[in-house]
Amino acid sequence: MAEVKIAGIRKSFGDVAVLHGIDAAIADGEFMVLLGPSGCGKSTLLRIVAGLETQSAGDVSIGGRVVNDVEPKDRNIAMVFQNYALYPHLSVYDNMAYGLRVRGTPKPEIERRVQEAARILELAPLLARKPRQLSGGQRQRVAMGRAIVRDPQVFLFDEPLSNLDAKLRVQMRIEIRRLHQSIRTTSIYVTHDQVEAMTLADRLIVMNAGHAEQVGAPLEVYERPASVFVAGFIGAPAMNLLRARVAGGRAMAGAAALPLPLAAGLDEGREVTWGVRPEHVELAPGAAEADVEVVVDLVEALGADTLVHARLADGGALTLRLPGTTRVREGDRLPLRLPPAALHAFDAASGRRI
Ligand SMILES: Nc1ncnc2c1ncn2[C@@H]1O[C@H](COP(=O)(O)OP(=O)(O)OP(=O)(O)O)[C@@H](O)[C@H]1O
Ligand SMILES: [Mg+2]
Repeated sequence: MAEVKIAGIRKSFGDVAVLHGIDAAIADGEFMVLLGPSGCGKSTLLRIVAGLETQSAGDVSIGGRVVNDVEPKDRNIAMVFQNYALYPHLSVYDNMAYGLRVRGTPKPEIERRVQEAARILELAPLLARKPRQLSGGQRQRVAMGRAIVRDPQVFLFDEPLSNLDAKLRVQMRIEIRRLHQSIRTTSIYVTHDQVEAMTLADRLIVMNAGHAEQVGAPLEVYERPASVFVAGFIGAPAMNLLRARVAGGRAMAGAAALPLPLAAGLDEGREVTWGVRPEHVELAPGAAEADVEVVVDLVEALGADTLVHARLADGGALTLRLPGTTRVREGDRLPLRLPPAALHAFDAASGRRI
């Protein structure tokens, strides 16, 4: 059993508060991703779980035991960082074996564990090489191998792929997912890359300025963002968000009368932030079927999709993602359908979902 519980975690550096009370329960075997912009406190939270940083308040428990006063080396965790910090003078084998030797693990057991990790990570042919004779992705695999051989209760990852080029990141992302499917060790993974987060996570914690804005499965967070911040952060291109006032059963964004989402509490006069994802806007067959008309500003033909940046009646901007086969030109007038089930509304003042 290695459930990780984070309860009321606060952290201040001097008089600067960076974590404002974070609660989360990561189930045994779960892959939890901490996602948020730079500086929001992801690494600090992970380092507190690891014991490399001491919280100002709150408890961390691993496997049912409060570990606040337990040294990092006794927490039975293994951490993989962005800079893999391999020993340059040691072979791949010795890099993986090093931690076990220091702990006095018997030689045959070291051999067994290193070979097993090498098999899982497809490093067997590279065991005799030095780190400088490896590619970036191979080095990152060795860093993971070093964590696996420890057979920890929990893996902690802090942006392990950010030193790799785009293609290798995609490949390693799949390998990490596969690795987790085979060994099922409870994992906490920090990233600011939302695609990485969406593809790896069983659940994710979206963090903003030291707060946990939302905890949920990736699609849950995509479909029902709990706040304007999450709505704007998850999804690329970002959700269209417009300030509006509820009037006559419509969301009035300047001169544009937009349909309302299917949500309770949208009373006359309420100030809201209205939202729709670019991929949920549809082209209407004609003006008669349209909810709203836009004028095309700019077209980005990406192949599979075409991104259209358009303007509403009074100048409010709307981005649409249309199939790549759509032929649209700058200056075109487009009739659009905005299906109520795909619309979002947030309280204008608090930013919380309505
Ligand atoms: N030792 C420290 N002393 C003072 N402030 C710190 C210290 N470590 C981190 N901070 C501050 O705490 C905040 C959170 O930092 P943290 O490293 O946790 O962010 P992060 O979410 O991991 O960001 P990134 O994506 O850039 O790695 C930042 O504003 C940072 O400047
Ligand atoms: Mg960080």
